[in-house]
Amino acid sequence: MTETRLENTCVFGLSWGDEGKGKIVDLLSPHFDIVVRYNGGANAGHTVCVGSEKYALHLLPTGVLQESAVGVIGPGVVVDPLGVMEEMDGLAVRGIDVAPKLKISERAHLVMPYHKVEDRLSERALSGDTRIGTTSRGIGPCYADKMRRTSAIRFADLLYEDGLADRVQSIVAGKKAYFQAAFGDDEGLAAKDVLAVIDKARDRLGAFVADTTDYLNSAERLGQRILFEGANGLMLDIDHGTYPFVTSSSTGPHGIGAGAGVPGSVLRYRIGVAKAYSTRVGAGPFVTELADATGDRIREAGHEYGTTTGRPRRCGWFDAVACGYAVRISDATHVSLMHLDTLSGFSEVGVCVAYRIGSETIRAFPGACSRLERAEPVVEMMPGWDEGLRSVRVFEDLPASTRAYIDRIESLVGAPVAIVGVGPDRSQTLVREPLKRLIPVPESTLT
Ligand code: GDP
Ligand code: IMO
Ligand code: MG
Repeated sequence: MTETRLENTCVFGLSWGDEGKGKIVDLLSPHFDIVVRYNGGANAGHTVCVGSEKYALHLLPTGVLQESAVGVIGPGVVVDPLGVMEEMDGLAVRGIDVAPKLKISERAHLVMPYHKVEDRLSERALSGDTRIGTTSRGIGPCYADKMRRTSAIRFADLLYEDGLADRVQSIVAGKKAYFQAAFGDDEGLAAKDVLAVIDKARDRLGAFVADTTDYLNSAERLGQRILFEGANGLMLDIDHGTYPFVTSSSTGPHGIGAGAGVPGSVLRYRIGVAKAYSTRVGAGPFVTELADATGDRIREAGHEYGTTTGRPRRCGWFDAVACGYAVRISDATHVSLMHLDTLSGFSEVGVCVAYRIGSETIRAFPGACSRLERAEPVVEMMPGWDEGLRSVRVFEDLPASTRAYIDRIESLVGAPVAIVGVGPDRSQTLVREPLKRLIPVPESTLT
């Protein structure tokens, strides 16, 4: 039977984050009833550009920018309540009222002020080459508390736990003692400030708290379509990324079962997003990094500065070893290759096809950071393209050398490149058949 609309889909990053997931989720969300964030927290920064308007979302599912879709924050997300409120207020000023279409899982954990304090103190205490370069959003400490099970706070606790205030007093006392002992500082952490955040969270967000697991599973059985919005990227995955220089959650489609409470088997499409080159923000091995004028040129052409922290992103050639690994472990059905326009004007563009470590040449992605740090990229240089691509609207109109570059990437990573980004705007997206039938790209609103 010919499909007439998109089935359940996951959009996720194949790299170290910032691949352009927000743009793809925004493009797809009009076709879905529900858009779900299932991992990470306010470490994410997902950008959507519509004409002259630019939105950067950190915790709210990108789908809330569209009128129709319900936005769900699943059990696997760590939620900074003040961050959500700030985002909602920011959108309200711009005429977008999220309140009628937001649900937050009662099982989701809250990022508390002491998590952010711990993130800052522990990063400061690490020496240069062991520092992770986190986003300072309290992500790691909150997930650590969740796993520890003794000092975590969930949205259900805000609504149903009678002795929460007493428990918070004791958690804060314990945190202060630990911070002082470990770091000699507690940044003036006070239980009354934490309780004030909790009260505010209950007052403003209590109405959105729901059993989203039951809601999503029932909706799925009734035939509603769900779009899962991955945050961060597979190379930052807690198990499969460049550990320990990773984030603290499961960032690919494998995170959906745990993070949304919906079995991954409901997925029809797994769209992995990558850039036509590589970027990384924060510390950790990056085999194809170009710490030279070429890397600087990519950074400036692609405006590669972090959406969440504003930090300059490290830039390098496309890494087919890392991306092929990410495609395999996620079973990506399609790749969305963004920022082709950024490479216009380069006489040659590079693709890393293997790593050389000492006398060994490997194509499998190593698990040990010490090996990755020593790996040299085996780079294949291909002819570049001079043409600007931002006004191209049909895949077949791309220059031959751009298409040859895409073909090479497809054959190396083992999945079809179904979507191509030629600029930041919604309309600057080329979709190839057979997905093209299902995803009409909106007309340009650029002036
Ligand atoms: P995300 O975290 O994966 O959603 O990505 P970010 O929003 O952090 O970073 C991607 C950046 O690239 C944003 O500024 C987007 O507006 C921009 N972007 C996305 N796709 C393209 C593209 O095809 N070309 C260009 N030039 N910019 C793009
Ligand atoms: P989106 O969803 C880019 C990186 C941080 C750091 C490491 C750990 O916008 O793609 P954390 O604060 O999570 O403990 O930091 O992970 N990182 C990201 N880099 N994009 C992201 O999200 C990221 N989320 C985390 O820079 O290196
Ligand atoms: Mg981002």
